[in-house]
Amino acid sequence: MTLLEPAARDTMKAATGGYRAPRPAPLDEPLGPFALLRALRKNPVATWTTRHFEDKVVGGTGLLGRVVVISDPAMIKHVLVDNAANYPKGDFQRRVLSSGLGNGLLLADGEQWRGQRRAMAPLFSPRNVASFKAAMATVAADLAARWTRQRDGRTVDISNEMARATLRVLARTVFSDGLTRTTDEFADAVTRYLGAIGQVDPLDVLDAPGWIPRINQLRARPMLGFFEDAVDAMIARRRRQLEAEPGTAPRDLLTLLLEAADPETGAGLSELEVRANIVTFIAAGHETTSNALTWSLYLLSQDPNARTRVEDEVDALLPDGVVGPDTLDKLVQTRAVLDEALRLYPPAATISREAVDFDQIGDMRIKAGTRVFISPWVLHRHKRLWDEPDLFRPERFLPGAKPIDRFAYLPFGAGPRVCIGASFALQEAVTLLATIVRGFRLDLAAGHEVEPVQRVSLRPRDGMPMVMRRRN
Ligand code: HEM
Repeated sequence: MTLLEPAARDTMKAATGGYRAPRPAPLDEPLGPFALLRALRKNPVATWTTRHFEDKVVGGTGLLGRVVVISDPAMIKHVLVDNAANYPKGDFQRRVLSSGLGNGLLLADGEQWRGQRRAMAPLFSPRNVASFKAAMATVAADLAARWTRQRDGRTVDISNEMARATLRVLARTVFSDGLTRTTDEFADAVTRYLGAIGQVDPLDVLDAPGWIPRINQLRARPMLGFFEDAVDAMIARRRRQLEAEPGTAPRDLLTLLLEAADPETGAGLSELEVRANIVTFIAAGHETTSNALTWSLYLLSQDPNARTRVEDEVDALLPDGVVGPDTLDKLVQTRAVLDEALRLYPPAATISREAVDFDQIGDMRIKAGTRVFISPWVLHRHKRLWDEPDLFRPERFLPGAKPIDRFAYLPFGAGPRVCIGASFALQEAVTLLATIVRGFRLDLAAGHEVEPVQRVSLRPRDGMPMVMRRRN
């Protein structure tokens, strides 16, 4: 286990002015090459040094080649927006995550990415995302009904519960006519798959050739096979339906993906691209959202004042316990808790790019081939950018609060490669969080120590056991 900051342990009860959200203590000095390899495999967020949380730029040459970590909003805007063409995702990220996602939107680069992004933008238009409100509210209501039937005072692993809930949302919005396997079978395969691919392999750090098998990829292969078979069966079933009786097919993400076409070229997605994007939606959209919810419920359990504010809000706005279609925008306290949880525990903790050509950012020269890291984990707790960065203070995000620089807060990234599912995720997370707080009060199980660990997304090591009590 990584050494947690003592302050985090000392303030398990809310301090006035905000709870100190635990994190691995920053290192005084960078690790040597072997220690770094080991630490990256165990938990990348435990490898940052004090300097990363204080300086705008930290650069150097080491195991990962020439690297710069940028935590200055103007420089970040330059990399992600103004000169984005010079900073594609590069090989590192692709190698770490590639099994099954290779041809999907998340990892594609260049023309393939551009065509797919244009074709898929309408899938996540405000109108389409709004059309999923009812499916999300149903999943939330089903979860509340199931918990209500369980014994009061029971301890449950909230990270597991949230993972299943967000998978159910995907099942209802991607394949609304049902999965070809049970949701639980599917959920197990997804969780094991993400667990297997999510650890950084030393061979990738060392730029070893791609033909050398990576242990993580080998471990992920059986889960990927299960996945791809299940997804292929659902695609084939839907294609048949669209050909035979087009009017009867549900307007879910699968139909929209099969009908998607690049408005500039008219080209649709290939069979492989459809499958890779379904797997991408599940891999990119499931654990990220479920961890955002898990961290929100944990942080609320540590801060009675914030919890009371959200309870009062949902009691007033959800009298029958259900999130109505017009309620979402009014849940400002609930949304502020999510925004603050995404700041303290950003599910996508690192964004990486690779410079194609020489570039000049202010007075910094970037050589071709440099790996550029922008870490929401570092940025969101950076001393230059936030007051009391480690304190949980949802009021930072309430209407009327001090404005936050667009490039100081990047839970969903920015620029052309900004998360395509951001509004889907926020709509889903607000719906689930409001429904849960309306019905239940959750407290961390006694003696459980919380430690964030970075895999595909930033999750709590050893889950999040919480005691669940009904609120009447
Ligand atoms: C709280 C939940 C989520 C978080 C924190 C999150 C975070 C991110 C971030 C930071 C990126 C940009 C990565 C980069 O620039 O390198 C991204 C991209 C992406 N996300 Fe999300 N995401 C979430 C939910 C979702 C959902 C629900 C979906 C789909 C249903 C989704 C699909 C994608 C896709 C396809 C991309 C790639 C976009 C592109 O490159 O054009 N994400 N996400």
